[in-house]
Amino acid sequence: MTHPRLHQIHEIAIAAGLDAIALVPGANLHHLTGLDFHLMERPLVVFFVPGRDPVAVVPALEEERLAACGIPMTLFPWSDSEGFGAAFAAAAGALRLRSKRVGVEELRMRVLEANLLDEYLDATLVPAGQALAALRLYKDAEAVRALREAIAISQAALEKLLGLVRPGMTEREVAGLLIVAQLERGGGKHPFEPIALAGPNSALPHGEPGERRLAVGEPLLLDFGTTVRGYASDITRTFSVGEPSPRLVEVYEVVRAANEAGRAAAKPGVPAQEVDRATRQVIEEAGFGPYFTHRTGHGLGMEAHEEPNIVEGNAQVLEPGMVFTIEPGIYLPGEVGVRIEDNMLVTANGAESLTTFPRGLRVIGV
Ligand code: GLY
Ligand code: MN
Ligand code: MN
Repeated sequence: MTHPRLHQIHEIAIAAGLDAIALVPGANLHHLTGLDFHLMERPLVVFFVPGRDPVAVVPALEEERLAACGIPMTLFPWSDSEGFGAAFAAAAGALRLRSKRVGVEELRMRVLEANLLDEYLDATLVPAGQALAALRLYKDAEAVRALREAIAISQAALEKLLGLVRPGMTEREVAGLLIVAQLERGGGKHPFEPIALAGPNSALPHGEPGERRLAVGEPLLLDFGTTVRGYASDITRTFSVGEPSPRLVEVYEVVRAANEAGRAAAKPGVPAQEVDRATRQVIEEAGFGPYFTHRTGHGLGMEAHEEPNIVEGNAQVLEPGMVFTIEPGIYLPGEVGVRIEDNMLVTANGAESLTTFPRGLRVIGV
């Protein structure tokens, strides 16, 4: 019998009219093999061909891990001293995909691998990222358990951090404490570098923590996550260091209402863009529309950003098992930024916020 996950990717290939799918290290390959390989200078490509065992070109130092992954594969290992050309040539001979359609992850595969596939396989590369999203779109019970654990670790780490932050600390110090607090609680790799932004820096949605010091009367925006068994949490809360300014209170309450409207709109049968509309409407009606400069959210799982995107133009209907963020924000340049981000699981008759950290404006550091 075909391994169930192989069956899944074979079905995707057939439905998309592809003769094969070639994956490089990343979440899709992790999902299929249970292995988290590095995407580094050494090419590693696994070819999935319906009806056949996968064929892999693999650096020799990873051969043993891949061979033991539980899926029978034909391996073409290559060593650092001999280089990868002969292994790709031998794999191409076994695959016989000349002029065939090979699906690739257009957001992941690099020019390095694309050129090797072109040179040795002489296949037509077809972007298959959208089709492959089906692999990980619906979270099973084990995935939801891992997400809940990752979120619990992040939330407990946040509570610990809030007892430690004081005016005068730098953003970098705060980010470092958050990293340590998550690791101490069993968190794994960080799905992205934690964002800790103080004062006017909070108005940079994806700003980098730097030397800015926390000051009384200013916001602190924290956006961070961890992983458990490969599944990521992604939570944002914004706080006031000492008593908040009237402007922070004003903006905060609008974002909080937008977050609430988005969570209320999320349910099975609703197109993803309706959730975006629900949060955006609240922010637009309050007069801050131009300052909400990103989509409402994104899918969450083995990648911090995956399908379904919660964005205008995405008519994809939400269904039980999908997990995504709701993270409206208002960013007033040079002044103040607020974002409140939750992680939602679509259930049979609604949606559950897996993140439960309180959403009221909390005064910290005093
Ligand atoms: N943090 C917002 C986004 O990446 O969509
Ligand atoms: Mn986030
Ligand atoms: Mn997010």
